[in-house]
Amino acid sequence: MGSRVTIHMAASLDGFIARRDGSVDWLETVSEFGGGDSLDPEFVEGFLNTIDCYVMGSRTYETALDFEARGLGWPYGDKPVFVLTTRDLPRRRGTVEFYSGGLAGFVNDHLRPDFRGIWFVGGGAVSGDCLRLGLADEIRYSILPVLIGDGIRFFEKLDRDVPLHLTEVKAYKTGMVELCYAVRPSGPAPDASSRGPHTSAGLPSGVKE
Ligand SMILES: NC(=O)c1ccc[n+]([C@@H]2O[C@H](COP(=O)([O-])OP(=O)(O)OC[C@H]3O[C@@H](n4cnc5c(N)ncnc54)[C@H](OP(=O)(O)O)[C@@H]3O)[C@@H](O)[C@H]2O)c1
Repeated sequence: MGSRVTIHMAASLDGFIARRDGSVDWLETVSEFGGGDSLDPEFVEGFLNTIDCYVMGSRTYETALDFEARGLGWPYGDKPVFVLTTRDLPRRRGTVEFYSGGLAGFVNDHLRPDFRGIWFVGGGAVSGDCLRLGLADEIRYSILPVLIGDGIRFFEKLDRDVPLHLTEVKAYKTGMVELCYAVRPSGPAPDASSRGPHTSAGLPSGVKE
């Protein structure tokens, strides 16, 4: 079964996914873009159906638990959720599993054989690891119409350039813009004859079409 690892997060225009203290109050933006699309429920449902499991760092999990405790719901439905942690964290639902250890082995040997749509949903530390280890096939960046000046970066501690290939752009009525990029393998540029926005050239090796 072909699999695809996607990193998805919502971030401020200046590239932060949370304030330094972890708060995400700024995600509630108030703006309107008349020419934008609306997120109709059918589209959202179809989109969610392409996700088979979620992977997250422990601090993101703790934020999700806190949201749930405040009555804001659990955003991952009944899909499996893999939480990376070395700690003994509360397990409030059967769909949650904890993992500690090497991320590359976990993704390639444990997740890829069993799941097609593998979504990394943060935070910055885990997303950075995912890219540094060459595990991500795709990045989805939902840019919110706000600047917050400081905070936790979308990708923490990247140690090299990561070439990308834009595959999709969408603007929504809320002023949110979603960018989707394929992560291109590092190394020599692909043959010029195979470049182009609608070819599969440059897709990473893990993406099987
Ligand atoms: N805007 C958005 O869309 C969005 C999305 C997600 C998160 N967030 C925000 O981002 C913040 C969290 O991001 P973050 O970068 O601070 O943390 P994070 O990536 O969520 O979690 C990092 C932690 O996960 C554990 N971990 C990571 N890799 C591991 C591995 N291979 N094995 C075992 N444990 C591992 C470690 O903690 P321990 O071992 O100590 O448990 C590590 O400190 C939160 O405030 C959250 O609200 C925002």
